[in-house]
Amino acid sequence: MSQETLFLDSGQNQEAVPERKSRSRLGLVITGVVGGSLVALYAVTAPFVAPALRKICLPFVPATTAQVENVLGVLRTRSGTLVDIGSGDGRIVIAAAKHGFVASGFELNPWLVWYSRYKAWREGVHRSTSFHISDLWKVSFAQYSNVVIFGVPQMMDQLELKLTSELPSTAKVVACRFPFPTWVPEHTAGEGIDTVWVYDAKTFKSHLQHGTTTKTAEQEDTQDSHT
Ligand SMILES: C[S@@+](CC[C@H](N)C(=O)[O-])C[C@H]1O[C@@H](n2cnc3c(N)ncnc32)[C@H](O)[C@@H]1O
Repeated sequence: MSQETLFLDSGQNQEAVPERKSRSRLGLVITGVVGGSLVALYAVTAPFVAPALRKICLPFVPATTAQVENVLGVLRTRSGTLVDIGSGDGRIVIAAAKHGFVASGFELNPWLVWYSRYKAWREGVHRSTSFHISDLWKVSFAQYSNVVIFGVPQMMDQLELKLTSELPSTAKVVACRFPFPTWVPEHTAGEGIDTVWVYDAKTFKSHLQHGTTTKTAEQEDTQDSHT
């Protein structure tokens, strides 16, 4: 190889080095942006998907306007503390606070809790509301005199036992869309998916104390049809 060729070759290599460096920097930036976006996407979506992977799947399905109205309607003569178990985006808690309740929400999804706090602040009820990032099975609801739950049928029997042992006998419980399996409601309001059932703690606690189980009309019908 002539000296001239060597000279030309080394000149080309020197030009290629900065080009290679800038290409690898661009590669790093792209990797960073794609990786960061995937991590952010995971952080946002995981809390919404996680409930589906739990033993009892309780997804985020917000209450309809009619459902919220029915809840507030059946509690219109009540006051004091209220809790929404699995408070979602905070709509029931915020509406209750606007009706004079000191209202709290317990919710597993941190995004929904932060959003609820922001919405409560924006709607001017942040002083009479509180939102907690908590698993409903790991907290006690003993301090609440009004309890609201929009659950799923698979969890209602366990929740019945939990609330029976925790709540004072002055409490009222409102179930949205799905009733409790053995408690007898004192009344219902609304229809279809907006139905709410109201339960008096004095009644369901006295049944427990007397060691009796209450039967819904449906269970009695089923039993009758087998005899
Ligand atoms: C059917 S939504 C009801 C939302 C709200 N209460 C409403 O009526 O608009 C049920 C909520 O419970 C939350 N959730 C699910 N599992 C939970 C758990 N173990 N502890 C607390 N909240 C839970 C879900 O993230 C969801 O927001």
